[in-house]
Amino acid sequence: GFEVLAAKSGVRVQVAEDETIAAAFARSGVRVPVSCEQGICGTCVVSVLEGEPDHRDEYLTDEEKTDQIALCCSRSKTPLLVVDL
Ligand code: FES
Repeated sequence: GFEVLAAKSGVRVQVAEDETIAAAFARSGVRVPVSCEQGICGTCVVSVLEGEPDHRDEYLTDEEKTDQIALCCSRSKTPLLVVDL
């Protein structure tokens, strides 16, 4: 697992192996808009402020992947990922 921090709301949450970042935030009261939940539509995309995402989506371009993440399906390569949320 890894931790995610929602910078604007100041909420930090552990993401379990069997849940998505969006789900982890949701159970901690941080709303993440989602639609397809399959990495296709881009509804759940936010900016990454710190850490390195483990991208699992089909939506973002390689360039966008340098500083954005799809929270419905992507994960983290670093122990902590800070997002603009
Ligand atoms: Fe569609 Fe995440 S909800 S890409």
